[in-house]
Amino acid sequence: MFKDQSNQLRILPPTEGTLEKAARLLFEGELVAIPTETVYGLAADATNDAAVAKIYSLKKRPQFNPLIIHFAEVEQIKPHVEWNEMAEKLAHTFWPGPLTLVLKKKSSSSLSLLATAGLETVGVRIPHHEVTSLLIQRAGKPLAAPSANPSEAISPTSAEDVRKGFDPETPLLIIEGGICQGGIESTIVDLTLETPTLLRPGLVLPEKIEAILHRPVQFLATVSSIKAPGQMKRHYAPDIPLRLNVTAVLPEEALLAFGPFPLRGAAKTLNLSRSGDLAEAAANLFAMMRELDTPLFSSIAVMPIPSYGIGLAINDRLGRAAIQKEETCSLASR
Ligand code: TXA
Ligand code: MG
Repeated sequence: MFKDQSNQLRILPPTEGTLEKAARLLFEGELVAIPTETVYGLAADATNDAAVAKIYSLKKRPQFNPLIIHFAEVEQIKPHVEWNEMAEKLAHTFWPGPLTLVLKKKSSSSLSLLATAGLETVGVRIPHHEVTSLLIQRAGKPLAAPSANPSEAISPTSAEDVRKGFDPETPLLIIEGGICQGGIESTIVDLTLETPTLLRPGLVLPEKIEAILHRPVQFLATVSSIKAPGQMKRHYAPDIPLRLNVTAVLPEEALLAFGPFPLRGAAKTLNLSRSGDLAEAAANLFAMMRELDTPLFSSIAVMPIPSYGIGLAINDRLGRAAIQKEETCSLASR
């Protein structure tokens, strides 16, 4: 059996044999790290409370923060949620892809209460990655999967990033699925409110959602009365400080540049996109933050990123990553 052969963290190529093994592990209530088009996920059978509990414990994630449930096709989702016309339109246009829909959960749903943090709603998506689709089909179960990093840390965009995040003794199979093309987590839109509400910006832009639904989408930040579980303040955070919107760098700093004219004078510079392409910047964001996150530098200075299109999602992640540990004491109220 897998656990007897190796009780260690390991990356396996996406072969038939690996998928078979991964499906069996999921069935037995174990965790498997899976590739998606956004970031790698730490997956468990979403109908198994004990398996889902392992996700929270390995990530050290607060249990009031619900998980996104991943499916291979729409028909597999319908038994669990109140499906509606808006969901149908968005699913048709954007799935498989980097969009999560928050819908009302059916009382008859077999999804783990822990996975949904006891809420009456559930976040669902169909990821665009062949390996993971095959795995979900083979396991025959929806998969609860947050990003495969310890809570608050930078999300992983490669199998190797996942491996580095955990203790080598962790019994976790990581499926190799290449570098994540999107690079930042899915857009989350809540369809259970009177007005569709953007809970997390991502690669699917709100204006595209508005165009498909023929109605406005409101931003969570502008609706203070709505309780958003787990929209954690500090997240994606490197170990060294991050300074945003810099116009000058210190010689001991690392620079995360954007555009054709990087600032001069940093100890090391990486450019999110020389040509100023926001999709390219999103795809590079987490990997470059990781590369610069070493005690060799006093901090990471980030040049201004335009706040339109995908820039909204990039600035959302950067804003959370810049928050220092001391500032996170009142997470439960967020
Ligand atoms: O791209 C992604 O979405 C990645 C990949 C692995 O699919 N997953 C991901 O999961 O980013 P995670 O756990 O890091 O972020 C999930 C977010 C949290 O902010 C959580 O609060 C929100 O989704 N969420 C999940 N269910 C929700 C619900 N019922 N209502 C509101 N927010 C929900
Ligand atoms: Mg995450």
